[in-house]
Amino acid sequence: MSLPPVVRHQYDAVIVGAGGAGLMAALEASKGCRVAVASKLYPTRSHTGTAQGGIGAALGNLESDRWEWHMFDTVKGGDYLCDQDAVEIMCQEAIEVVYDLEHMGLPFNRTPEGKIDQRRFGGHTIEFGKAPVRRSCYAADRTGHMILQTLYQQCIKRGVEFFDEFRLIDLLIQDGRCGGLIALCLATGELHLFHAKAVLLATGGFGRMYKVTSNAHTLTGDGCAIAFRRGVPLEDMEFFQFHPTGIHKLGILITEGARGEGGILRNGKGERFMERYAPTLLDLAPRDMVSRAIYREIREGRGIQGRDYVHLDLTHLDPAVVERKLPDITDFVRTYLGINPVKEAIPCQPTAHYAMGGIPTNVNAQVVIDADNSPLPGLYAAGECACVSVHGANRLGTNSLVDIVVFGRRGGRHIAQQISKLDLPPLSADAQGRAQEETSRLMSNLGGESAARIRAELQQVMMDHASVYREERGLKEALAAIAALRSRYRRVDVSDKSMRFNTELEEALELGYLLDLSWVTVVAALERRESRGAHSREDFPTRDDAHWLKHSLAFASNGTIRFDSKPVSITRFQPQERKY
Ligand code: FUM
Repeated sequence: MSLPPVVRHQYDAVIVGAGGAGLMAALEASKGCRVAVASKLYPTRSHTGTAQGGIGAALGNLESDRWEWHMFDTVKGGDYLCDQDAVEIMCQEAIEVVYDLEHMGLPFNRTPEGKIDQRRFGGHTIEFGKAPVRRSCYAADRTGHMILQTLYQQCIKRGVEFFDEFRLIDLLIQDGRCGGLIALCLATGELHLFHAKAVLLATGGFGRMYKVTSNAHTLTGDGCAIAFRRGVPLEDMEFFQFHPTGIHKLGILITEGARGEGGILRNGKGERFMERYAPTLLDLAPRDMVSRAIYREIREGRGIQGRDYVHLDLTHLDPAVVERKLPDITDFVRTYLGINPVKEAIPCQPTAHYAMGGIPTNVNAQVVIDADNSPLPGLYAAGECACVSVHGANRLGTNSLVDIVVFGRRGGRHIAQQISKLDLPPLSADAQGRAQEETSRLMSNLGGESAARIRAELQQVMMDHASVYREERGLKEALAAIAALRSRYRRVDVSDKSMRFNTELEEALELGYLLDLSWVTVVAALERRESRGAHSREDFPTRDDAHWLKHSLAFASNGTIRFDSKPVSITRFQPQERKY
């Protein structure tokens, strides 16, 4: 079949993805240069919009708080794998950026005196772990939605140009620098070449590699997988977070804010089982610990009626508070489960939620490509697709929203400051060649394999062997299964041969990304022979700082994965035993 035509554009900077990180980066970059945003979704449908419970910042509006305590909680929550220089910046700048969002018009909930209201969240404490603190600034349980609307309006006001429903297909990396990208326009099927001095990836996570996930169907790791294929390493991919309270079987998020407002987890005997696992923070312990506790209860036969879920109980709370502060989750529970959460407990199970690993960056969101943190000129990443690393082995709730706005802003600023010093790098005449080849190959395949079937099998394998608990035998089974699925993927058929709105082609492309990232996740999980944060190896059940207090870097290398490592930045807080 004939190759799709290529449409050319030229910008100073192109941001890929229009969630909170992408929009914040675009907004800041637009203050110094001409910016376009290419997003596979209409911007206000980005996954940031599903973030519910809040954004952490030590405003101290309801009780005393300090950014140093926020930093300590983040480092301890991340099981000491966080780069502390980056965490320090994040926790300091969180305060300023929350006030910036307020001034842009974000409708936060308010205290009676009119300050931004704050609620409790898992792992956030006063005085270095003494007791829970109200640190999460929130807009009911729609905080991410409000961030997205606010930033999108600001971008429109500043004249940022949007290419909606344009999906990244390739990064143009030549002679050691990035000079643009190729995107596929969903409406026409045309390939577009964006020639630019700087590209910032803000393409989100890849929770769709798991069967039960809080992630939207679009969270397929496009930016991470494409960067990996083009020689960029991926950092700390073994760490994938399971949020403790997904709606049973569906995985839809029930915000930790529900426990922040006083909700309690109960097992089949009605016990508040977190008393046994985290006597100080109880239900507000970090997510890795709560998810493991739920798995333990279920495995030991104390799930609800012996089944694979527990209850989140809100029935003792004031119904008016639940309805006012948690309107979306009460609606989800009524809609999807047909139960009234102010009268009945909510069936919950851990749900794949967040990738701590991703594209390595420095604190200015520049992509770095080796153990010495050498930047790849012209390429940036921010948000869940990036690994700064502020979350270490386990992210605290509310810190993803902090991460996207703080490091999105820093990336955009860095681009604006650097742009006048940069030339537009030359591109080879055949810059679009690989993208044309990949799309044409998928469109002309006749191998009879179905993307939907392969994806379902992948999600089951990842759920069974690479979720909350892992061990060598299961990971090896997963690796063999993924190898077989990757070979079947070469024969995936796209039966829709049309150019316009070819969502079947999109799904096939996305499956390729998920397969690559699952492969890296499983191999990295096999490599790390210890338990730390969200990576819990039953065959290596303890943390081993002597051998494993280091970041992993996975490189694509002639059809295999090569590993390197780099040190963790430890500035203020030496690793300690993690008790809550
Ligand atoms: O529970 C939640 O509202 C999720 C927040 C987060 O992942 O930070």
